[in-house]
Amino acid sequence: MKVLGIETSCDETAAAVVEDGRDVLSSVVSSQVDLHARFGGVVPEIASRAHVELVNPVVAEALVEAGTEVGDLDAVAACHGPGLAGALLVGVSAAKAIALVADVPYVGVNHLEAHLRAAWLEEPDLNPPIAVLVVSGGHTMVVAMDDFDRYRVLGQTVDDAAGEAFDKVARLLGLGYPGGPAIDRVAAEGDPEAVSFPRPMIDDAFGFSFSGLKTAVVNHVRRHPDDDVRDVAASFQEAVVDVLVAKLLAAADECDAKALVVGGGVAANSRLRARLLDVSTETGWPVCLPSLALCTDNAAMIAATGYRRLVEDGPTPLSAGIDPNLPLTAR
Ligand code: KG4
Ligand code: ZN
Repeated sequence: MKVLGIETSCDETAAAVVEDGRDVLSSVVSSQVDLHARFGGVVPEIASRAHVELVNPVVAEALVEAGTEVGDLDAVAACHGPGLAGALLVGVSAAKAIALVADVPYVGVNHLEAHLRAAWLEEPDLNPPIAVLVVSGGHTMVVAMDDFDRYRVLGQTVDDAAGEAFDKVARLLGLGYPGGPAIDRVAAEGDPEAVSFPRPMIDDAFGFSFSGLKTAVVNHVRRHPDDDVRDVAASFQEAVVDVLVAKLLAAADECDAKALVVGGGVAANSRLRARLLDVSTETGWPVCLPSLALCTDNAAMIAATGYRRLVEDGPTPLSAGIDPNLPLTAR
């Protein structure tokens, strides 16, 4: 069963063809980073317009790369939330139009569920219970996956998402946008122990909070303007990583996990990945770190999740819309 997936929830226009929920035949991602960089963040209206221009060529490229045609598709999936309303509408409208033309089912996919399940594209034999950390620009949560379609959101951030904190701190440090990769890069040359930043809510079981940490960095930079940016970046990153690792381990305990899984853009962070490998060695819990292209926004995860939802729940009616605040509901 070939599923075309479309992702337009934020600033990446992406399309992919995935067979039977696991074989990625193609995955095309067109990033709008250059369009938004001079504004220091994603401008929703610019994102929507860019998606309108890019969605057809990106879908066409995904079909060509997969060696397939619209007529060969068995379903079309699109991310219908959470995300930017105007941006989501573009992908969902395109997916519905293609589904109508091809006379195949349309499936709406939750972006968070897609990040959660991305790891299975590379590790299809991962078996629940599994503890998953979903860390992106808009969300930060730990999830207990008790079974393949049964998961519990154990906790999430009460304010900023981890990726948002990376982006804001990078901006403050003059490192540009997107901030996560920039901090990752300069932090590699810094001392993670140079500044002792707070580890917010580290003792709270599953909650996260990053806005106080961001303020701590602001205050530190004001007081010590001559500090080496690499040290400040490394120390900030270390504080975030400490919290993320602690919560994932707490989640693993809670659900008696057989393995640890990460997803979302911040899961591409090299320090987080290195620390999780160390933790895996220390604790014996296997850890699955999806390749970087599967951590950041992509449509392969949408197509794979769409396949699963179609098989388990059936098609989404064409009358269904988008939901910018769609939660990851316990199934
Ligand atoms: O999952 P994603 O591509 O989009 C959302 O669903 O939000 O995540 C984007 C976020 C951005 O905040 C970006 O700065 C962050 O992921 N990010 C990183 C890294 N690569 C991307 N954060 C830390 N280290 C990285 N290497
Ligand atoms: Zn995402």
